[in-house]
Amino acid sequence: MNNTRILLIDDDESLCTLLTMNLTDAGYNVLSTTEGKEALDQVEKDIFNIIITDLRIDTVTGFDILEKVKRMSPSTEVIMVTGHGSVEDAVDAMKKGAFNYITKPVDPDELNLVIQKALEKQKLTNEVKNLRSQLQKEISLKNIIAVSPKMRNILEMVNRISDSDATVLIEGESGTGKEIIAKAIHNNSLRKSGPFVAINCGAMPENLLESELFGHVRGAFTGANNTKKGLFEEANNGTIFLDEVGETTQSFQVKLLRVLQENEIRRVGDTKDIPIKVRILAASNRELKKMVLDNIFRKDLYYRLRVIPIYLPPLRERKEDILSLTDFFLTRFSKISNRPKLKISKSAQQKLEHYFWPGNVRELENTIERAMILSREDELQSNDILLEESSTEVLQDKSELINLTLKEVEERHIKMVLEDCSWHLTKTAKRLKIGYNTLWRRMKEYGINK
Ligand SMILES: Nc1ncnc2c1ncn2[C@@H]1O[C@H](COP(=O)(O)OP(=O)(O)OP(=O)(O)O)[C@@H](O)[C@H]1O
Ligand SMILES: [Mg+2]
Repeated sequence: MNNTRILLIDDDESLCTLLTMNLTDAGYNVLSTTEGKEALDQVEKDIFNIIITDLRIDTVTGFDILEKVKRMSPSTEVIMVTGHGSVEDAVDAMKKGAFNYITKPVDPDELNLVIQKALEKQKLTNEVKNLRSQLQKEISLKNIIAVSPKMRNILEMVNRISDSDATVLIEGESGTGKEIIAKAIHNNSLRKSGPFVAINCGAMPENLLESELFGHVRGAFTGANNTKKGLFEEANNGTIFLDEVGETTQSFQVKLLRVLQENEIRRVGDTKDIPIKVRILAASNRELKKMVLDNIFRKDLYYRLRVIPIYLPPLRERKEDILSLTDFFLTRFSKISNRPKLKISKSAQQKLEHYFWPGNVRELENTIERAMILSREDELQSNDILLEESSTEVLQDKSELINLTLKEVEERHIKMVLEDCSWHLTKTAKRLKIGYNTLWRRMKEYGINK
């Protein structure tokens, strides 16, 4: 017996028995019933590949069965069995989503053929669906550059959580790619055909944020002339991305916690709750854990949000990504501006690799765009690359370096390594191959502090 499951419904008991025998002989797994109500029950609690139903059963009709099946399990195919007089109804049923119909008296061979065709269609539909979802996955992850082991781990994580609905907290400095990762998580999830709605929670005062997210009823406050849906409702069956969640007030945090616990929202000024099915992703460029310790972020909300935590390291801690990102942006900007793609000189590459990137990937993106506009050749030179003033301004130019004293070089070098180690003193000392105390003394001597 193969594992194709068929539900057979006909009030004519002898026909039911005959067809069940035939179909079982043909290798199908058949369940049959002569009662409409029982059939509806079965449809509700089980999934069949194919349903063969009489058009007129009892008080329940074939149309009722069809309607319920298509709602509960759209990929199940329904074959209608009809008497001579009701071919028109059968055609109508096909318009409503039935696969085909056969007329009584039923010829078992004909029925078998129709079943085979329905199964073929099912197989093809499934294949197309799988291909399409695979394609979408590739597209969404292809736009994220990940060469460094740290970023590769993150993408692997994004892939691993694609089937889950869990809340994700994405932390990382400004410009590290929190939003692009949030989008990738959505595009890889089962909700990808639903909406992705992003909101910056830090950009507006509390009462506005509340009515944006939860909506409001007419008359809830002055100026509320209409009832308005909030973003949680807009994002139903999709994903909502709460950016800068650390910037919210404690009283707002209580309301957000309630949404996470109850899966319900209440429009501002309303008395009833509305159930929602939304996946929540949150991001912060401040370390939430520290904010919890400082009592400015609620601990209970913190734990609800970080069911799956993702930390995006600053670009300076994954230098392997810099040149690939540069290449990616060069390609992108050349496409946008319709120019041939620029090459990039060795010294320009080095300049990019040695910089501290306080604004992370966004700063690199802007730097490349500016360099492309400035460049007059088909190759970017080091002086096309203008970097923001920074404590570790890299002096590539030999003529500038040569004028420094040994002490100045030492000071700059210590600063650079400190920044590269995120001001982790033990790490820095190790890298410089000096003792912790020596490092500390030098920092005092040169007046180096964060
Ligand atoms: N790994 C990456 N591959 C390709 N592009 C990236 C990558 N990371 C970031 N970007 C690009 O860099 C820019 C900044 O990324 P994004 O807006 O996601 O950062 P963010 O962490 O949300 O920043 P902020 O904290 O300032 O909101 C975007 O244009 C994004 O497309
Ligand atoms: Mg962002």
